[in-house]
Amino acid sequence: MVAAQNGAPAEIKYTQLLIDGKWVDAVSGKKFPTIDPRSEEVIVEVAEADAADVDIAVKAARKAFDEGPWPKMPARERGKIIWKLAELIEQNVDELARLETLDNGKPLSISRAVDVPHVVKHFQYFAGWADKIQGKTIQADGPFLAYTLHEPIGVVGAIIPWNFPLAMFAWKVAPALACGCTIVLKSAEQTPLTALYVGQLALEAGVPPGVLNILSGYGPTAGAALARHLDVDKVAFTGSTEVGQKIMTMAGETNLKRVTLELGGKSPFIVCEDADLDEAVELSHFALFFNQGQCCCAGSRTFVHESIYDQYVEKAVARAQRRKVGDPFEAASEQGPQVDGEQMTKILGYIAAGQKEGAKLATGGKRVGDKGFYIEPTIFTGVADDMSIAKEEIFGPVMCAFKFKTLEEVVERANRSCYGLAAGIFTKNLDTAHYLSRALRVGTVWINTFDNFDASIPFGGYKMSGIGREHGEYALENFTQVKAVVTALKNPAWV
Ligand code: NAI
Ligand code: MG
Repeated sequence: MVAAQNGAPAEIKYTQLLIDGKWVDAVSGKKFPTIDPRSEEVIVEVAEADAADVDIAVKAARKAFDEGPWPKMPARERGKIIWKLAELIEQNVDELARLETLDNGKPLSISRAVDVPHVVKHFQYFAGWADKIQGKTIQADGPFLAYTLHEPIGVVGAIIPWNFPLAMFAWKVAPALACGCTIVLKSAEQTPLTALYVGQLALEAGVPPGVLNILSGYGPTAGAALARHLDVDKVAFTGSTEVGQKIMTMAGETNLKRVTLELGGKSPFIVCEDADLDEAVELSHFALFFNQGQCCCAGSRTFVHESIYDQYVEKAVARAQRRKVGDPFEAASEQGPQVDGEQMTKILGYIAAGQKEGAKLATGGKRVGDKGFYIEPTIFTGVADDMSIAKEEIFGPVMCAFKFKTLEEVVERANRSCYGLAAGIFTKNLDTAHYLSRALRVGTVWINTFDNFDASIPFGGYKMSGIGREHGEYALENFTQVKAVVTALKNPAWV
């Protein structure tokens, strides 16, 4: 099956469910379409998982965990298989990038140079952890030997969103595999294609049947069945705060499965008075507009010091107007379409609300053309802190530029949010950078950089931006549990 549009073919090889190492149809026989956000046309129909398929997949994952080789094999062997998967992803960079762009709409240049290489590094990084997961020897009181084992948590249910389909897959699957867990992953209904492709690569890399099961399907059906399933030991979720709350409730109402959540944000990007203006404009532009503005950590509240605010706005508007919006398969395109009509409508709704509430539309504000989900790079000035565009996650190419006077004031305003995912600070002053990085209540602070994602650096939210940390050694805690082993010593040389 080949979807060849605008001279940009991507071959679709896998559309079924991957359960227990085999490609199968849904029990119901149902399928659903995934849409090309450039044309609004159907790319292909994929098998639609529901509760019955979730149950079969969880049984396979349970069996692979309880009876299979994966959690029991020498950890070094697991690491080698994960590394092999990274190599296969690297070898398939072109096909994966094309598939990601076709399904999601992000520029092909970005899929190729950013998304896929990031995923390769992520699997390589966690391949290295597989044989370095270890407990502690405890100095207990009395003649006892006490130590801890860090054991895999069991069957992991992973539910991921559509904004970085491959990266979100890697953020869940790589550490879970390294820890010896088995997985049932439900991809986002908007972007099922790349997860299926990597599922096949995992089989080829030697991941045993049942260890990584991949389901396409919708949230309230397949997603909820996974979050409620009694044989799932842990659910790892990325998506909206609203659904994150539901996931926690479902886990609480069923078997108290462990939950980690990576949720929404409204991250401040603070341009201080000493900033190099051109650099600040470029970095803040990137912080917000990257990935069509569809980033949980997007620097969507741009706070600019009053002494440079007017010049900043002039330059930021000019930069936004230069941003090339177009077919993501064309090399010149910096911005493709939003992922779907629902997101486009939501974003246009926020733009209308901003105007209604009295913010000034400095540039953009409209849909581009009438086919595909393209939106003009948009900047609002004169935004009051209590407007909906200032408080809520827009998840699109809409920047709100605020003016501030003092550091204490900007800290107070930046922290006055239910979210706390990330913050950007742009300054040359070390004292300012250190003051702000400690005062801001967020999980990641980027100083003179933004969206710096490294497999080794923890990422996650304060407040309603989430629970737990992904990446780095911290991610291992999400997929392991601690067992204490205590042995009485008959004749110890010392205690
Ligand atoms: P969503 O939170 O509904 O979807 C994320 C994942 O959760 C998808 O796989 C979806 O199928 C699943 N899901 C949805 N309802 C579920 C349920 N009841 N039980 C179990 N799983 C469920 O996000 P959506 O609707 O795609 O986007 C809505 C807004 O969420 C966006 O406009 C954006 O503001 C935010 N969002 C944040 C993301 C992030 O990276 N933190 C990613 C995607 C969306
Ligand atoms: Mg939703």
